[in-house]
Amino acid sequence: MKTLWCLLVVVLTFSGSFAVDRNNFKTCDQAGFCKRLRSFKPEKSQYTLDINSIILNGNVLLAEVTTIDTESDRRTVLWNYILKLSALEDSTFRVELNEKEPLYARYVTQLALQHEPRPDGINLVSKDNGKVVVTNNQGHKVVITAEPLKFEFYDKNGEVAVVLNENSQLLVEPLRKKREKTDDEDVNVVEVEEEGMWGENFKSHHDSKPRGNEAISLDVSFPDADQVYGIPEHTDRVHLATTTSGEPYRLYNLDVFEYELDSRMAIYGAIPVMYAHGTKHTVGVFWHNSAETWVDVVNYADSTVVSSLVNLVTGGQKRRVDARFMSESGIIDVFVMLGDTPADVFRQYTALTGVAPLPPRFSLAYHQSRWNYVDEGDVRSVDDNFDIHDIPADAIWLDIEYTDRKMYFTWDAEKFRHPSEMVANLTAKGRKLIVIIDPHIKREPGYFYHEDATDNGYYVKDKDGKDYEGWCWPGSSSYPDFLNPVVHDYYASRYSFDKFPGTSKDVHIWNDMNEPSVFNGPEITMPKDCRHYKPPENGVEGIGSFWEHRHVHNEYGLFYIRGTFDGMQARAPGQRPFILTRATFAGTQRYAAMWTGDNTAEWGFLAASVPMCISVAMSGVSFCGSDVGGFFKNPDAELMTRWYQAAAYQPFFRAHSHIETKRREPWLFEAATTGLLRDAVRRRYALLDLWYTLFFEHSRDGLPVMRPLFQQYPKEEATFTIDNEYLLGDRLLVRPVVESGVTSVKVYLPGADTQTLWYDVDSYQPHQANGYFTQEVNIAKTPVYQRGGSAVWRKERVRRSSSLMSHDPYTLVLALDWNNTSEGTLYIDDGETYDYKEKKYIYSKVKYTPEGITYSFIDDSASYPTRSWVERIVIAGLKTPPKTAKLSQNEKQTALLMTLHKGNDVLVIRKPGASMAKPWKITFSY
Ligand code: GLC
Repeated sequence: MKTLWCLLVVVLTFSGSFAVDRNNFKTCDQAGFCKRLRSFKPEKSQYTLDINSIILNGNVLLAEVTTIDTESDRRTVLWNYILKLSALEDSTFRVELNEKEPLYARYVTQLALQHEPRPDGINLVSKDNGKVVVTNNQGHKVVITAEPLKFEFYDKNGEVAVVLNENSQLLVEPLRKKREKTDDEDVNVVEVEEEGMWGENFKSHHDSKPRGNEAISLDVSFPDADQVYGIPEHTDRVHLATTTSGEPYRLYNLDVFEYELDSRMAIYGAIPVMYAHGTKHTVGVFWHNSAETWVDVVNYADSTVVSSLVNLVTGGQKRRVDARFMSESGIIDVFVMLGDTPADVFRQYTALTGVAPLPPRFSLAYHQSRWNYVDEGDVRSVDDNFDIHDIPADAIWLDIEYTDRKMYFTWDAEKFRHPSEMVANLTAKGRKLIVIIDPHIKREPGYFYHEDATDNGYYVKDKDGKDYEGWCWPGSSSYPDFLNPVVHDYYASRYSFDKFPGTSKDVHIWNDMNEPSVFNGPEITMPKDCRHYKPPENGVEGIGSFWEHRHVHNEYGLFYIRGTFDGMQARAPGQRPFILTRATFAGTQRYAAMWTGDNTAEWGFLAASVPMCISVAMSGVSFCGSDVGGFFKNPDAELMTRWYQAAAYQPFFRAHSHIETKRREPWLFEAATTGLLRDAVRRRYALLDLWYTLFFEHSRDGLPVMRPLFQQYPKEEATFTIDNEYLLGDRLLVRPVVESGVTSVKVYLPGADTQTLWYDVDSYQPHQANGYFTQEVNIAKTPVYQRGGSAVWRKERVRRSSSLMSHDPYTLVLALDWNNTSEGTLYIDDGETYDYKEKKYIYSKVKYTPEGITYSFIDDSASYPTRSWVERIVIAGLKTPPKTAKLSQNEKQTALLMTLHKGNDVLVIRKPGASMAKPWKITFSY
């Protein structure tokens, strides 16, 4: 019966028409707090700072805040709060506001921050006339107005950059006791409580809300901002839209079947960081909260904002964006990041939530997945076919069907009888296996995980304290409570090789359904009144002794992948793990790569993969990709080709498809299409060292790998809203073809004011930046340009997998700028261990000037015995070709051969033969 139910879910969910069932998901009006808060628009804020209560302690200003009944003459104090303003390193402030004596502790998000943020100094400059002025040690000023409470944050030039509570929408609903009505009480005397205060319904689901309402809200204004960005995951543009005439952006991790495009509906991920950018500065706010959150945006420049409002608020100048965050629970905890460039603010955010650690190199290569490769024979044939068709591949993926009836950490005993041999067969070619492990656990007697979890109380509890039971792939399932450190350790230990037989260091992990997805739960997730672990406290019992799912929802998936990461570290301490996650939250990047979930084989979804990945990259998670080819439905040859070509230039490159789609491995198309897919994959492999270098640099500087144009060209207004092209590091500009049947596309080349040159990577033809130009595209063409002034290292020999290429020779492409120079970095190490932490790597810089080329080590104390050497150097955009070239390395000098091509502006140095393990130099004479 259970199996039947599950089958029914699969079939039903797949055979319906292709559109999200909006009825399954709440609108703002159906979410009690969103409806309540959205209509809360007081003329004046009730929050007042008590200036006399201010204490300065280290980097923190503490003060009391009260709400005052401004409507009564007696100015009755309604509630007391504690304000904490902390000055933090790198132009960042933190504002926390909590009840002074809450009835129960209010939830503070636990896992988003990588560590306690580092302090800066705070100085009290003045506290007169109802205003408190403080500065940090980096020259930023904060002015706090006492009544009504308001915060103004100034940039380094003394201009107001961020204002909190300008629109009086600060609100912290105090926790209250439920008033039990006694029998003799007069019904009319019982105080009127808000509708839904102690319970809400959605469809057939009841949320019992034992703590009552505890929502919070805050408005944030960005004077001088042209656009705001961030708060992924949504399917609309990178720059956020004005929401006044529709739904706010929603942040609530949800498994949305057949999610729709151009939408502010919540999907799998929720990263509550927002950036505001204009020509003056870039700033950001990080809303540190893991509860369901809705965000309204008003961009006064949008045509939808009525002009009377623009005049009223901005004096008609039309440059300003207001946002408003509304969360169901928690405390006000907001980080204000003062930039002042886009790169600064992206770095400031990753200083708080962490960077992606250096990934294993193979994970940046091509992945082949499908729901499902059905048995060992299937895996072997897919693996062999890559070789037969000369297409490199680094990983084959197994979806849920490899398990014994969806019991994770087991194998189907019939279809996967020899997992170790299967893995060995892959690793012989340098390939890996990636298997799925989902968080839900099949409630099956005799299944060790279920028995252990039941016996030891590891599952999330329902509202009555019993093990919560929901439905997911295995049928009846329960969900381990990863917030409990004991459960975390138990789960992590499942990854040890003896407990998960058949796995080895070459088996990596895919964590799916971790929103968490519950097929029969409200909005396909866990009921909000489920109970999670809270560390025991003396004297705290009952409602205050657990957290509710509502408090932790958006970080449940993060707790889960942290367990996976720790487990993989423990099973093979010297090896870097690779994990893919579907749910995301602030901090996800520290553990996993993400993908955009169950998309559809349609052009719109291919196009959407670009802004979706740019947006998460700005929000800390650079390692992003989409299901190549589309998860649902069957792509035709053109869509498949364009998807491969686009994904070859996106960080995570994996083909994946639904169980009911037609098989579509690259060789199953007509020969011409297979050829194009092969070409796309090979292009990826040629640039793997660039990808690896960019991820290495991200791990040091926290900057996105996939960058919005405005990050590098922050003064160029046209770039603020371009999200169909992007930059890889500061080197390549990519404008994937995401339109059907086109023979040309418009490409914007930034940097006109500095006469930037962009070289077509196929022809080395230079284009001088001058806004848009028309690029012809046949089916083989993906518009990609190398910036003049940059150097890119390539590897051009075709192999079966990336590890087989690790000691291959390099081709260096130097694209010259107007000053005839170019430079770029390269990172090399063993690709899989932590030896790089022991200085076993090469981080080098190559620099071209008309005098010569130097290859030197940026980190002099590090080295790596690479056998790679320089096979070819291409110099594009050369004005005067040299007569001779001489290589010096290890005190030896060698004369080099050169050839001139293409109207004599491309010079190729043949076989310089320099070793990459040591610095070298080439000198030209004219
Ligand atoms: C979810 C995933 C999808 C996977 C399927 C079966 O729908 O998003 O990628 O194939 O579950 O595990």
